[in-house]
Amino acid sequence: MDRRMMVAGNWKMYTTSAEGAVLVQDMARELEAVHGDVEVVVCPPFTGLKAVSTVIEYDRVPIALGAQDVFWEREGAFTGEIAPGMLTHLGCTYVIVGHSERREHFNETDEIVNRKVKAAFASGMTPIMCVGEPLAIRESGETERFVRDQVLAGAAGLETDDAARLVVAYEPIWAIGTGRTPTPESANDVARSIRATIGAMYGPPAAMQMRVLYGGSVKPENAAHFFREPDVDGALVGGASLKAGSFVEIVKAATR
Ligand code: PGA
Repeated sequence: MDRRMMVAGNWKMYTTSAEGAVLVQDMARELEAVHGDVEVVVCPPFTGLKAVSTVIEYDRVPIALGAQDVFWEREGAFTGEIAPGMLTHLGCTYVIVGHSERREHFNETDEIVNRKVKAAFASGMTPIMCVGEPLAIRESGETERFVRDQVLAGAAGLETDDAARLVVAYEPIWAIGTGRTPTPESANDVARSIRATIGAMYGPPAAMQMRVLYGGSVKPENAAHFFREPDVDGALVGGASLKAGSFVEIVKAATR
């Protein structure tokens, strides 16, 4: 099964809308020299989505747009929240759900993540559902069990077709923004176990189609090592996605 490689940039709480527009223009220019079938996604802050989507549309940039979060209701009195339809209206086709920073600082539980995953699919977007263990779990050897439970809860109750489209980003919390990473083999072990969990829930065809990204201190220097692993279908990139040069180097590493 040939899954399409994906490189997604999570801009976190960086870039004004004007800076985001310039960044995506720079990326577009550098991407012209890249040949190969990699799906490239950028996820600006909410306030940058309109400006970035305008650049993508007018310059016909081959980059997909994603948001970093979404609320699960269609509309209503939810001050400060953003509905799925508001994102699709701006051209978002992806949305990051359950990033560890949201789980940690905004108390997102697996149940909340599951609601958001379902709401994303219901509106036609593809969720990039983040899972990953804290350091203490890694050190106790419980990583696969911990991540499996996150997948079982976060991806519960989906249509089989949606499960096949799901993207799961495996991001060990201790690797995010730290410069530390698991070995590629160990990242692949967890990616394989995530795929097996989806297989147990939705059957082997969905498991073979769904994509698993690795995230956590992915840089131009180490990306290719992760991309060589059979169950790693790309990367979710934070820090290195804020510079067009380093982001596009990672995209290049994903071409095969
Ligand atoms: P990082 O972040 O690449 O800066 O480690 C990854 C992420 O949080 O998605």
